[in-house]
Amino acid sequence: RPRVLSGIQPTADSFHLGNYLGALRQWVALQDTHEAFYCVVDLHAITVEQDPKVLRARTRASAAQLLAIGIDPERSSLFVQSHVPEHAQLGWVLECLTGFGEAGRMTQFKDKSARQAADRISVGLFTYPILQAADILLYRADFVPVGEDQRQHLELTRDLAQRFNTRFGKTFKLPEPYIVKDTAKIYDLQDPTAKMSKSVPAGMVELLEDPKRSAKKFRSAVTDTGREIVYDPAEKAGVSNLLVIYSALSGRSIDDLVADYDGKGYGDLKKDLGEVFTEFVAPIQQRVRGYLDDPAELDKVLARGAERAREVTSGVLRAVHERVGFLPPT
Ligand code: TYM
Repeated sequence: RPRVLSGIQPTADSFHLGNYLGALRQWVALQDTHEAFYCVVDLHAITVEQDPKVLRARTRASAAQLLAIGIDPERSSLFVQSHVPEHAQLGWVLECLTGFGEAGRMTQFKDKSARQAADRISVGLFTYPILQAADILLYRADFVPVGEDQRQHLELTRDLAQRFNTRFGKTFKLPEPYIVKDTAKIYDLQDPTAKMSKSVPAGMVELLEDPKRSAKKFRSAVTDTGREIVYDPAEKAGVSNLLVIYSALSGRSIDDLVADYDGKGYGDLKKDLGEVFTEFVAPIQQRVRGYLDDPAELDKVLARGAERAREVTSGVLRAVHERVGFLPPT
């Protein structure tokens, strides 16, 4: 079976709807047909300043959310990145194969670092995409389910795999991004030209917030001054984003929704979407509470996942070390 790997950062109290529709929903679906490795990337989370207690809580909450949306630890290996030391170890080797200018061209780094003074930007934030490449290449993954914003990091990953293979002999697989076009980029409800992100809380819907709050965010979503409910991302970004979300959560096609709302107003659409979301999220929230009530069991699931991950990664790292010329430990 082809293999998939993906990761998510534990940098917020809750995942948001962009994470879910852009990536996590695909994680769940791919378990049926692929050998899956999914990790909570805590090493990536410390590239920006963190509070240790908060990070620990968010790492558990992330795992709980992944289980609650349907990641099945029997079928998928679910683990925490820092429990598998080969990620950081391969990261170092790949850093030594990456050009400084090449890393500097990563747009996510440029965006994130533009908001801070140079001394507050860590070197880890700069090398972040190289660690991400290590996450993926260690598993020789065929596909990487992510949202559109990760495409450039996937290209870097492929370049590094290719470079390593050329210099040291075929070792890595060249992974393909697995990006579902319809939901590859979910937009902010307050600014439908920007992607939904945790840096703009007002336009972001969280899986773990009070659904009444989410419903209110949908009701006050920015739409245009027209009245017609049509799918037209260029001219009607706000309404189109709502239709994409509605369609993904309800399983109904956008055409079907547009026909159904013919003659009705934006207010109806927004109110109904709030209800659809509430129905979707209520059982997830309940399951998250259940997992968080038993942290020992949760930690056991993660320990098992890490063990399964290491069955793959230890051999791959050994091969890498040998090929770059390290003396084998005896
Ligand atoms: P992260 O934690 O920021 O986001 C997790 C996933 O959510 C997707 N996403 C979105 N998709 C659609 N619309 C949005 N508005 C939206 N916002 C976020 C992201 O594309 C991502 O798939 N660098 C990664 C984490 C990572 C990783 C990896 C991913 C580390 N190692 C290895 C894949 C493979 C990140 O920051 O994701």
